[in-house]
Amino acid sequence: MVDKNVNVNSDFDELVKNMEEEILEEAREIYTEKTLEEAYNPKNVGELKNPSGAARVTGPCGDTVQIHLEVRGDKISDSKFITDGCGASIACGSVVTELVKGKTVEEVSKLTDKHILAILGGLPEDNIHCAALATDTLKAAIGDYRKTRAFLNQSISD
Ligand code: FES
Repeated sequence: MVDKNVNVNSDFDELVKNMEEEILEEAREIYTEKTLEEAYNPKNVGELKNPSGAARVTGPCGDTVQIHLEVRGDKISDSKFITDGCGASIACGSVVTELVKGKTVEEVSKLTDKHILAILGGLPEDNIHCAALATDTLKAAIGDYRKTRAFLNQSISD
């Protein structure tokens, strides 16, 4: 007896493969290779157990990015992000969290969406705000770190 499921499954796999290839082709016309690489294989996805600074910001599009920072001395030793946003926001979160590692808090506080856009080789007009959402969240996480540190310093001196 011939197992018809074998053919059905391989036809279905072929169909899915073709659809994925078509979607990727369309994405290549809109996004840079670097953006697609970061969106499909993002680094630093997740949360830190005891972050030194943390923030969650919702952008005008309704999507949210969360960034956690670990600070040792005055340098950022680790960073993680999560987002419910678009592929561009995943790419931006990946780049931002990678970029901050090993830098001082002061250096990181000067990062802007322009730096992220330069690394990604630009984003379509409709996705420019995704880079701003990532850097706004980073700034908020730095603000949280500074506030916590100021509070701890105050508590110690009391
Ligand atoms: Fe909302 Fe990209 S973060 S569209």
